[in-house]
Amino acid sequence: MKLTIIGTGYVGLITGACFAEFGYETVCVDKDINRIIELNQSKCPFYEPGIEELLNKHLNKTKLLSFSNSLSQSAESADIIFITVGTPSKRLEDDADLSFVWDVAREISNNIKKYCLIVTKSTVPVGTTKQVKQLILEKIDENNFDVVSNPEFLREGSAINDFMRPDRVVIGCENQKSENIMRELYRPLNLNETPIISTSIESSEIIKYASNSFLATKISFINQVANLCEQVGANIQDVAKGMGIDKRIGSKFLHAGPGYGGSCFPKDVKAFINTANKHNVDLSILSAVNNFNDQRVSEITNKIIAKSNLSKGDTAAILGLSFKPNTDDIRDSTSIKIGKILNEKGINVKSYDPVAMDNAKKENPFLTLCKNAYEACEDVKTIIIATEWNEFRALDLKKIVNNKNNLCIFDLRNIYKSEEIKELGFDYFGTGK
Ligand code: UGA
Repeated sequence: MKLTIIGTGYVGLITGACFAEFGYETVCVDKDINRIIELNQSKCPFYEPGIEELLNKHLNKTKLLSFSNSLSQSAESADIIFITVGTPSKRLEDDADLSFVWDVAREISNNIKKYCLIVTKSTVPVGTTKQVKQLILEKIDENNFDVVSNPEFLREGSAINDFMRPDRVVIGCENQKSENIMRELYRPLNLNETPIISTSIESSEIIKYASNSFLATKISFINQVANLCEQVGANIQDVAKGMGIDKRIGSKFLHAGPGYGGSCFPKDVKAFINTANKHNVDLSILSAVNNFNDQRVSEITNKIIAKSNLSKGDTAAILGLSFKPNTDDIRDSTSIKIGKILNEKGINVKSYDPVAMDNAKKENPFLTLCKNAYEACEDVKTIIIATEWNEFRALDLKKIVNNKNNLCIFDLRNIYKSEEIKELGFDYFGTGK
């Protein structure tokens, strides 16, 4: 089977490299020529554990993977074309901007020469895949292609494992022929008995948004309960453990923190609310999730400022700049938002992140970047552990406290035990405990 993946962003590159690992001849296409030149040298534009090794293996050894900026050549011979372009939020609106999807659909319709499947893997609002079909029908006979929705459930930082060992694969098809091709494509996953869920195209599109929105709901819920725990002397980690052991609830995504960030949850929750509004359906539960998350950062920052008595001219350290560990992605990163508010109030911000500093500095010149966590914590009034990178879990805090009184530590992700940190002489503040 020959595959073409259009768009070499996060989803496209992981998908392309992993399909090559399955043994398929895969061409990844992007109109950004500089990106293609870099990829042809196995250089990945973002940090993701394991991706460069996989690119290198299939570019240079198996030669199953190639990169091109010509859609026409690869589309002609492809059996399956995946659309993996970005669907950002529209400027000044919460709706998904689908202009890249329409551009690609038009280009595909100008270039396919034999029957192929056209698969939307980008996160697209319900109805989009059928609209892609309508666009292509303007140029191509309906017997010469089928459209499929096949959303991804990859988490940044563990995307390769998520692709190779998914909880499920969802395929939304209109007929048996396209379903059979998709099942054949994912046959390598039969080894681990991965469930392949076959649905209508609309259901498949909804599954993606409903899954991300549900996870976001769990997070906002546990963060609100964390606020209550702080008021009544309970501990959110014990509460989450006691809840999560119930199999109907599950323990995942019940970690309280500064709110969800990243390139997916904030945008997808907003777009899903928008879809519901367009259809006059009440999804107010999700509006509450979204509103609470939007205000979470200022709520947390105000708490930091008040408890540690920070004022203009003071310095705070932020450990972790990416929106979560094992990624250099700073999109909608709560830690950077906290840094921005502190900076606006005249508080200096020193920071360190294992991989996200280059990205962070480009857009946030106010950050003073340090070569490690210890340097970031020197001569500050407050330490904010914002992202739970492994290297922050085992810091030599004795080295940091250095006999200073009233050094505050805000462990936003609850990676330390409060008693242990207090014993060292810090004023310790976790989340929800
Ligand atoms: C998320 C989904 O988990 C993936 O299944 C999905 O494919 C992806 O979006 C996408 O739509 O492309 P990702 O954004 O990489 O993946 O990150 P998550 O691990 O889901 O974390 C999202 C945010 O929630 C982070 O800010 C994280 O810190 C926060 N979070 C997560 C919590 O605050 N508490 C938790 O218990 C879990």
